[in-house]
Amino acid sequence: MLFRAALTAIGAATSVAAVTSLEVQGSQFVNPKTGDAFQVVGVAYQIGGSAGYDPVHNKDPLSNGDICRRDAALMQMLGINTIRVYNLDPNLNHDECASIFNAAGMYMLIDVNSPLVGESLNSFEPWTSYYEAYVNRTFAIVENFKGYPNLLGFFSGNEVIDAVKTGATAPPYIRAVTRDLKNYIKNHADREIPVGYSAADVRDVLEDSWNYFQCSIEGEKDDMSRADIFALNSYSWCGDSNFHDSSYDQLVSLFKTTSVPVFYSEFGCNTPSPRIFTEIGAIYGSNMSSVFSGGVVYEFSQEDNDYGLVQVNDDGSVDLLSDFRTLQNQYAKLDFEAVQGVKATGKSITPPTCSESLIKEDGFNNNFTLPVPPPGVQKLIDNGIGKKVNGKIIDVGDWKVTQTVNDVDGTKLTNLVVKPLADGEINNPTSTESGSSSGSGNSETSDNASPRLAPLSSISAALLAVPAIVATSFAIGFTLV
Ligand SMILES: *[C@@H]1O[C@H](CO)[C@@H](O)[C@H](O)[C@H]1NC(C)=O
Ligand SMILES: *[C@@H]1O[C@H](CO)[C@@H](O)[C@H](O)[C@H]1NC(C)=O
Ligand SMILES: *[C@@H]1O[C@H](CO)[C@@H](O)[C@H](O)[C@H]1NC(C)=O
Repeated sequence: MLFRAALTAIGAATSVAAVTSLEVQGSQFVNPKTGDAFQVVGVAYQIGGSAGYDPVHNKDPLSNGDICRRDAALMQMLGINTIRVYNLDPNLNHDECASIFNAAGMYMLIDVNSPLVGESLNSFEPWTSYYEAYVNRTFAIVENFKGYPNLLGFFSGNEVIDAVKTGATAPPYIRAVTRDLKNYIKNHADREIPVGYSAADVRDVLEDSWNYFQCSIEGEKDDMSRADIFALNSYSWCGDSNFHDSSYDQLVSLFKTTSVPVFYSEFGCNTPSPRIFTEIGAIYGSNMSSVFSGGVVYEFSQEDNDYGLVQVNDDGSVDLLSDFRTLQNQYAKLDFEAVQGVKATGKSITPPTCSESLIKEDGFNNNFTLPVPPPGVQKLIDNGIGKKVNGKIIDVGDWKVTQTVNDVDGTKLTNLVVKPLADGEINNPTSTESGSSSGSGNSETSDNASPRLAPLSSISAALLAVPAIVATSFAIGFTLV
């Protein structure tokens, strides 16, 4: 610890602190500086749902620094180390938000698509949507985010396959988009950035999807169309469940042999509601953590589908919902120093060779002859796209949250700030053991040149109590962005 402190003090004086860019090694995310395997402790971040991305009004979830500062401060309290953002505008500047999340010790998982026409694959007729302007858009997202050290990876597709029917059409196209993205990154980024797929947890097609994307065509070592990561949006743990009843045990058996990192790109079933989040103990416990690399809770803000941890009001104020405190308390039961301190195995794993026999479900695509890049795309891969907005980490300067934030019981949280972490530090939940605290931030420095080294302790003891408020709404289903 002392050794690290000395190093970071020197580093911080001369440059803006940054999280360490993670690498994929075998089935793990690995921090190359510490050699530790990384567990995603994530939250989906898309205020306004898909409408939060509005290119006509230059709006997306990472384009307003004041909003990101508020939310990063809240996520620091919660213990988050990764955000997943679905729909972004590649023509906007995301420097302030990306820099805030970087300083707060958080990585970003970025989807390259959007629900707008021409900005994602059509599941049923993917050939009608795979053309230059679409692929160019995915490359523009790469250009925009490739310069951020806290970029964890890109999703080339989200739930494009949701049943055998779309499993018949979409797989070769998703794999082709993955290939194009990886070739673009290879030519135009200065580090390897993982690219993978975020699957719907539809058990008929889950195994086939995983195998279709993780396999290597003709056993080729550097098959550029192979996914680097495989994630699933899973809602099978509901209420007071357990490792077996939730069928998490089946997922662990299924993915035991994975050649790429597997994690939940969404989880958090909300029937019953409010949630109790007992799956946290399972996800980061020993039954799962050697196979899974954590997960992303769905989702930060309350939207129509009722999965929010906080309510964002029109005036920019925020009300914490009971799920926020419940989740925080579940994280606090675990020792995240230990969870994040497991040495990576260092093993590379030979992926299965793609073959018809790898695909089990009748009707799921088993053809590994991929569509060639559409006309014009190879030129973009070779020369780069025309107009680009390249992001970079900037000095943020101001860490204070200006909006009103109310706790579950209505008390106003005072002195809320983002606390910039030292170089290489990631945000961790405050464990109950180390747990006592120092008020809500007023004793903390907001000076970037004085990095904090201790785990976060921003939560006052009173606020750690599980709120008694019971939400009155009952969700009956969900639409994912
Ligand atoms: C590619 O994307 C950039 C940035 O959005 C845009 O300016 C350019 O016109 C696009 N090119 C094509 C061929 O779609
Ligand atoms: C781990 O698995 C065992 C066997 O299925 C189960 O009894 C136990 O509750 C699980 N532990 C957690 C934390 O889920
Ligand atoms: C596999 O897909 C390719 C490209 O779409 C096509 O030319 C070929 O006929 C397909 N093979 C089979 C066996 O269907």
